[in-house]
Amino acid sequence: MSSFCGNMILFLVFATLMAANSSTSTSSALTEDRRNMFFSTFHVHVVNGLSSNKILFIHCKSADDDLGEHNLTAGNEFQWKFKTNFFVTTLFWCFMASRSDHVHAKFNVFEMDEALFYRCNWKHCIWIAKDDGIYLRNIPQNYDEFRYKWQRDVAPLANFTIV
Ligand SMILES: *[C@@H]1O[C@H](CO)[C@@H](O)[C@H](O)[C@H]1NC(C)=O
Ligand SMILES: *[C@@H]1O[C@H](CO)[C@@H](O)[C@H](O)[C@H]1NC(C)=O
Ligand SMILES: *[C@@H]1O[C@H](CO)[C@@H](O)[C@H](O)[C@H]1NC(C)=O
Repeated sequence: MSSFCGNMILFLVFATLMAANSSTSTSSALTEDRRNMFFSTFHVHVVNGLSSNKILFIHCKSADDDLGEHNLTAGNEFQWKFKTNFFVTTLFWCFMASRSDHVHAKFNVFEMDEALFYRCNWKHCIWIAKDDGIYLRNIPQNYDEFRYKWQRDVAPLANFTIV
C-alpha cells in the first residue's frame, strides 16, 4: 500500500469518526430539546409586583381548568403546574386587575411559543404584574421583560368576565 493510500484511509477513518461524533452530539441535543418541550412539567407563576400594598386580582383558565379567582397581596404569587402534552396544545390565559388603579389585562400566560419557553427556561413562566404593566421574567438573561400594558377599566369591574 502506498503511503498516499494509507494517509487517505487514515483521513477517511478520521473524517468518519468526526462526522459520527458531531451527528451524535447534534441529535442528542435535539432529543434533549424535544424532551424539554414536550414532556417536561411547566410551572406558571403570577406575581403581585405592584407597589403600595395594592391587591392583584387574578382569574386564570384553560379550556379544561378554571383556576378560580384570587386576590394576591403584594409580593405574593399564585402558581400552578401541568405536564405539556406531546403537541403542546396546552393554553392558559389570565385576567388580571389592579382594582385600586382601575386597570386590567387579559392575555395568554402559556401557549405553544418557543420564545416563551426559552424565557421560562423550559420550566417556570413567571409573570409579574407591576404598576406600569405586566412583565415576563426572562430567566436565561435574568431580567423582567415588559410584555403587556394595563388597559383602563371602562365599566364596573363586576362586569368583567373571562371570555
Ligand atoms: C467527540 O465529542 C467529545 C465530546 O463532545 C469530544 O470530547 C471528543 O474529542 C470528540 N471526538 C472527536 C474525534 O472529535
Ligand atoms: C377579591 O376581592 C374583591 C374585592 O375586594 C372581592 O369582591 C372578591 O370577592 C375577592 N375574591 C376572592 C376570591 O377573595
Ligand atoms: C353591569 O352589570 C349589571 C348587571 O349584571 C348591569 O345592570 C349594568 O348595566 C352593567 N353595567 C355596565 C356598564 O355594563
